[in-house]
Amino acid sequence: MSTSNKTRIVVIGIGEVGSRTAYTLLLRERADELVLIDSDQNKAIGDALDMNHGLLFLGRSKIWAGTYEDCTDADIIIITAGTEQKPEESRMDLLRRNHEIMSGIMSELIKTNTKAIVLITASPVDLMSYFAWEQSGLPASRVIGTGTLLDTARFRYLIGEQMNIDAHSVHAQIIGEHGNSELPLWSEANVAGSELDLSEDTKASIVARTQEAANEVVQAKGSSCYAIALSINRICAAILKDEGSVLNVSTLLKDYHGISDVYLGVPCIVDRQGIRSTIEVKLSDKEKVLLHQSADKLKGLIATTTY
Ligand code: LAC
Repeated sequence: MSTSNKTRIVVIGIGEVGSRTAYTLLLRERADELVLIDSDQNKAIGDALDMNHGLLFLGRSKIWAGTYEDCTDADIIIITAGTEQKPEESRMDLLRRNHEIMSGIMSELIKTNTKAIVLITASPVDLMSYFAWEQSGLPASRVIGTGTLLDTARFRYLIGEQMNIDAHSVHAQIIGEHGNSELPLWSEANVAGSELDLSEDTKASIVARTQEAANEVVQAKGSSCYAIALSINRICAAILKDEGSVLNVSTLLKDYHGISDVYLGVPCIVDRQGIRSTIEVKLSDKEKVLLHQSADKLKGLIATTTY
C-alpha cells in the first residue's frame, strides 16, 4: 500500500482492455497517479501522452508510462496482460504461455510491492488469478480476479431489457467460471423481491446471450473492452472507498459448497483490504453439481498447466 498520501493505480498490459481501463479510471478520477506499463513501451508512452494532453479538461491526476519500480507505491495493480491464441496453438499451449507471462510479471512485481491489491483481468481470468496468487505468495484476499462481475452486469442488463426495467432494479447474479461453465442463479433472481415473470424459453435465450456476449462483441469489432474497463473501475472504487460492496469477483474458494483450492466468481465483500469474505449463496442440488463441475474443470486445467 502506498506510503504517500496519493492514490496510485498501475495498469500492466496496455492493449485494448488496459488502455480503456486506464481511460475509464482517469475519467472517474479514481487515482492521483496512474502508471501504464507494457512490454511495448511506445504503446504505454503514446497512451500516457494522449491522456496527458486532455488533462486540462479533467481533474489533476498524473499519468505516465512506467516500469515495475513504479509499482512500489501502488495501492492497486491491475494485470490485463496476456496473449491471444495463435492459429496453430492449442488452448493448453496458450495456457502454458500465459502461465509463464504471469510468472514473469508476478516475480517482478513482488520485488517492489507486497502490500498492494492485485486485480487480474488477464484471460482466462479464473486460472490467471489462481496462477498470480500461487506464484506471488500474497494472501488470496489481495489477489482478485474480475470473475463473473461483467457476466452479472450483462445478465442484469439483458433481463432488464427484456422486462423494460432498469438493470439496477434487477437482482440476479452469475457465479462460477468467467466462461462457458458459468452459472446463472435463476432461483433467486427477482425484481423488488418478486420472482421474474419470464418463460423458460426466454430465460434460456437470456443465458445464451449472456454466455455469448463477449463473442458477439468480438465478432462485431475485434475486442471487448469498455464493459470490462467499467467493471474494473467498479472494483477499484469498492477497494479505494472501503465500501464493503458485494461484487461477484473471482477468489480462492475455501470450502465454498465443499469447493476449495480454485478461483471462481462468487459474491464477495470488497473493501480496502481486498476481499473481506465470500457470501455462500443458496444453491439448488442441480446448481451445486454444476458449480462442482466448473471447479473440477478448472482444477484439471491447473494440474495440467503447472505439472
Ligand atoms: C469479456 C472479456 C473481458 O467477457 O472476457 O468481455
